[in-house]
Amino acid sequence: MRLDKYVSHATTLPRDVSKRAVRNKRVTVNGEMVKSASHHVAETDEICLDGQRLQLPQPRYIMLNKPEGYVCATEDGQHPIVLDLLTEDSPEGLSVAGRLDIDTTGLVLLSDDGQWLHRVISPRHLYSKVYYATLHEPVNEETIAQFEAGIMLRGESKETAPAKCKAMPENGAEVILNEGRYHQVKRMFAACGNHVIALHRKQIGSVVLDEQLAPGASRSLTQEEIESFQP
Ligand code: URA
Repeated sequence: MRLDKYVSHATTLPRDVSKRAVRNKRVTVNGEMVKSASHHVAETDEICLDGQRLQLPQPRYIMLNKPEGYVCATEDGQHPIVLDLLTEDSPEGLSVAGRLDIDTTGLVLLSDDGQWLHRVISPRHLYSKVYYATLHEPVNEETIAQFEAGIMLRGESKETAPAKCKAMPENGAEVILNEGRYHQVKRMFAACGNHVIALHRKQIGSVVLDEQLAPGASRSLTQEEIESFQP
């Protein structure tokens, strides 16, 4: 990366100001004064501005326990957005990996690392998503078989991929999907003659929603959780 670009990224100074700082001998690379803004630097180099070590901002990886009433978007004229819930200094640049409906609760992953976000949702990797649904009617054997066999949803040309549906107490169901179509869980149950009253996402891939997180709370992902989404 060019030296002036590094300085801009690390400080948020505009590029022309960074260039001038280099020309005015305010910047050192590994202790040496460098006057060329186009000088190439590596992330491992020690870059200082006015004697202060600069550091490139690190990508952020966050899990959020989404409450009802928030939309998974970066802006919305009508409803509050999930970014409003973050305690981060600046949620700028963060995006959601795999949206939930406004009335769905549970695990949402956010990052400003575009490649990582892509890996989380890419059909190539097939990271399964686990949901807990509360239904109008108890799950029957036919529904379990239909989920397993694939369902042709209204307006679509391809059946859903085989999914797991397990009956749980009090009209509950645990659902495991390997894809992410629009309103998929609700539409699958509707196609089986049932109705989803409440929906909660518990897990994406091997990342499980932290039980310590109250609705609306968030935390950074651990290194292990980040790396569980393999390139
Ligand atoms: N399926 C749905 O119907 N809604 C969601 O929010 C997620 C999956």
